[in-house]
Amino acid sequence: MNLRSVRDADVAGKKILVRVDCNVELNESRDVKEKYKVAAAHHTVEYLLSCGAKVALATHLGRPDGKPNDSFSVRYIADDVERILARKVRFVESCLGDSVGLALKELAEGEVLLLENVRFFPGDESNDAEFSRALAAPFDIFVNDAFSVCHRDQGSVTGVTKFLPSFAGLHLLDEVRHLTDARERPARPAVAIIGGAKIETKLPIIRMFEEKYDRVLVAGKVACEAQDEHVLFSDKVLLPEDYAPERQDIGRKTLLRFREEILKAKTAVWNGPLGKFENPEYAAGTNMTLESIIESGAFSIVGGGETIIALEEAGAFQKISFVSTGGGAMLEFLSGEPLPGLLALEIEAR
Ligand code: 3PG
Repeated sequence: MNLRSVRDADVAGKKILVRVDCNVELNESRDVKEKYKVAAAHHTVEYLLSCGAKVALATHLGRPDGKPNDSFSVRYIADDVERILARKVRFVESCLGDSVGLALKELAEGEVLLLENVRFFPGDESNDAEFSRALAAPFDIFVNDAFSVCHRDQGSVTGVTKFLPSFAGLHLLDEVRHLTDARERPARPAVAIIGGAKIETKLPIIRMFEEKYDRVLVAGKVACEAQDEHVLFSDKVLLPEDYAPERQDIGRKTLLRFREEILKAKTAVWNGPLGKFENPEYAAGTNMTLESIIESGAFSIVGGGETIIALEEAGAFQKISFVSTGGGAMLEFLSGEPLPGLLALEIEAR
């Protein structure tokens, strides 16, 4: 996939709207749990600032249903975004209107703006042209550095590209490159580990791996659902042979069998925990997977909100070759689905 890179844009002195994904889980004191998702925009922000551009970050947070709702306000994560990006962040009360233009005018060198939740307007999710036009109005250029929202055909992802010259951010480009390699040319043996919930969303990706990979290890709720619904797989796919009590984790026999397969891998792609890992009693499958991936020395790609939290908790980020910010987007991309957010940034073939 050939995308227009931000490096090819003339950004010096320009006002740039950067779509980031700060749709992160928060703990009780509203601290950001998924720091990685926010940090993903770091390179692009630094690159733009070093070119002398003015930068405003736009994001959604949760699903506030198209209207302002204080519990989904981006203002509460502004301090964390500032810490994670290591840049002074100025919060702007809305993503539309005069306040944005004014904030851009007053923005000091080295600072960035963080706009209020784009989903406080119904036009973001409905991809309304008037919303996108208004979002684009104060800016010269749009940069999408949020791979994890590229499966959404929404105003702040695709709509805005109709009104501004639009480019892919540096992290988004990395995501596409690594995930394309994992899908098209994995080093062999290639092993995929799929956990988490919702068989209906995970089945297409299990099928893709069944076709292209050497082994697919399926666990978590997905495996329970597949077994309950008697979904048929080829013998490349391994389902749990035994479980911990109440099927909250894989059992010992499965754990050893999965470990044996992961240790052989030259490529390992992992999405979704293998059990209810928040409870230490049911974390064995998830911990074993992480340890075995690291021990295997395979080129490893890990993605999905909960899986990333497991990585963060284990302090294992640096030991994984590439961490994808995408949950749904990673699954759809790997399954071969065209993502609207990427199509909008594609260089047209002549
Ligand atoms: C994600 O967390 O996967 C993305 O931010 C997309 O969020 P959404 O499912 O609310 O569109």
